[in-house]
Amino acid sequence: MRKPLIAGNWKMHKTMSEAEELVKELKDRLAGIEDVEIAVCPTSVNLLPVYNIIADSNIKLGAQNMHWEESGAYTGEISGPMLKEIGATYVIIGHSERREYFQESDEDVNRKAKAAFKYGLRPIICVGETLEEREAGKTMEKVKGQIKAALAGLSKEQIAETVIAYEPIWAIGTGRTATAEDANEVIKAIRELVREDFADAADQIRIQYGGSVKASNIEELMAQPEIDGALVGGASLDVDSFVQIVEGAR
Ligand code: 13P
Repeated sequence: MRKPLIAGNWKMHKTMSEAEELVKELKDRLAGIEDVEIAVCPTSVNLLPVYNIIADSNIKLGAQNMHWEESGAYTGEISGPMLKEIGATYVIIGHSERREYFQESDEDVNRKAKAAFKYGLRPIICVGETLEEREAGKTMEKVKGQIKAALAGLSKEQIAETVIAYEPIWAIGTGRTATAEDANEVIKAIRELVREDFADAADQIRIQYGGSVKASNIEELMAQPEIDGALVGGASLDVDSFVQIVEGAR
């Protein structure tokens, strides 16, 4: 049985005091929930203050990005060992915003996924098609390319610990959600792709949906057999809505 993972991607939101306030409330309201794994992914300067609040709780810490090198002359970047030491469990890799605005390639995503494991972190690898690609019937072609490239060279054991977030780009921040059935269909196809290269590890890898997830659609999404949780953007910034999403995933 795969345990669902509900992760809040806070993107470039919340100052330190706002992040601390949000996570303190989440810690109280989500205490004791063990049947759903919960993670929050604040911006890099807020990782440590947030970790200091959730260290002894059921909420795990995720970063939003990392560099693949251990250290070096890469101004503005953050390495895996730095994230590990301050308590991160997860790291989001290849979010569509990183791919689009910061020109991250499939090769970069693969390097980062391998580096995540090297330094003891679990990657949440994001994939998804644009509206244009969906309308041209190219969803699977796009997603297949992203998945094959991102996972190349990982071991079966690493695949079992990997999380994939299927986030159709046209559904991110737009209020437009893929139908639960459509999301389930793509996620099922992703799992079969993973099976081609990694056999039974495909039954362990968790594949989330992301894109305008909110309290009102989480139950429908989670009722689908292939969807193992959600990567939540906007609705993770509000205590009540994130709590309702976690509750809806149980
Ligand atoms: P929204 O939930 O705001 O659509 O964002 C989704 C997302 O990009 C999570 O990584």
